Amino acid sequence: MKTITFFNNKGGVGKTSLVYHLAYMYADLGVSVVAADLDPQANLSSMFLDEDRLEALWPDGDHPRTIFGAMQPLLDGIGDIAQPHVEPIDDNLGLLVGDLGLSLSESELSSQWPKSMDREPRAFRVLSAFWRLLESAAAAREAGLVLIDVGPNLGAVNRAALIAAEHVVIPLAPDLYSLQGLRNLGPRLRDWRGEWRERRDRNPVVGLSIPAGAMAPAGYVVMQHAVRLDRPVRAYERWMERIPRVYREAVLGEPVSPDGPTVATDPHCLATLKHYRSLMPLAQEARKPMFALKPADGAIGGHAQAVQDTFRDFRALAVAIAGRCGLHLP
Ligand SMILES: Nc1ncnc2c1ncn2[C@@H]1O[C@H](COP(=O)(O)OP(=O)(O)OP(=O)(O)O)[C@@H](O)[C@H]1O
Ligand SMILES: [Mg+2]
Repeated sequence: MKTITFFNNKGGVGKTSLVYHLAYMYADLGVSVVAADLDPQANLSSMFLDEDRLEALWPDGDHPRTIFGAMQPLLDGIGDIAQPHVEPIDDNLGLLVGDLGLSLSESELSSQWPKSMDREPRAFRVLSAFWRLLESAAAAREAGLVLIDVGPNLGAVNRAALIAAEHVVIPLAPDLYSLQGLRNLGPRLRDWRGEWRERRDRNPVVGLSIPAGAMAPAGYVVMQHAVRLDRPVRAYERWMERIPRVYREAVLGEPVSPDGPTVATDPHCLATLKHYRSLMPLAQEARKPMFALKPADGAIGGHAQAVQDTFRDFRALAVAIAGRCGLHLP
């Protein structure tokens, strides 16, 4: 099982849309995929599922079929994680359903982090809960790939989601906020990796599957939709110019030279994705990825060409990420 988390503590850069589209794209490429909604905002779940289905999965009271529901016995101290429900989306695609209640696990995930240094068994059960749920969901679907969506912050839920990630893809926009985000995120990722390495070996629970916590940076995706259109082109170019250097310095912890690559020549740049404008709302309305839109969904005239462009762009991105993460495409 390969796990890839799409992460940036800057909000609204396109993490959820990427996971959604790439999940469908990998499924189309013949890879069995689980998409995991580990963001307490649960936006990924609402992209995949209509309101009636969400209402059924989120009844009043307990939610046994969400990711939070599967953690509940452990959080309540009455058992371990339950077998998670995986919502079937397509032949090759299943969803670990998100839950607004997931934010309630923040304090427990936070308080168990220091306790794992003292070799407390419960700490390892709690901190590995996401990882074990992903493993069990992937096994149930015979999935070779898990794509993880997380919220825009550096909190304890995300730390647990990130230690479950073998690879990390960073979507970002060419603007001040994204580059500042990168400067916070990079060192934090490196801290988490080091701190988890220190803890891993202290796990006293025999037979408990805990993550390796590699969090290997797979590269970044420049999201042009997140650029503010009221700013001059020059500002855009200035931020574009800085991305390769800031990524190297902050995320990889490597020294940089003044004559480094541009985004266009940077091997760490996985793609620059266009603003697909009116295609995204059409896709959301039709509850389909943009590249699957048909004339009956409103993709007529110029939209039809744009649909083909999105297919080409997302296919190329899926192939690039697979290459960086050592994922075999059938
Ligand atoms: N390539 C794109 N073209 C056009 N619109 C896009 C594109 N990617 C994302 N969007 C739109 O931008 C908005 C933010 O995207 P999304 O929700 O995926 O970001 P996010 O990083 O997951 O946000 P959050 O930090 O809140 O979780 C959404 O309205 C989405 O439809
Ligand atoms: Mg999101």
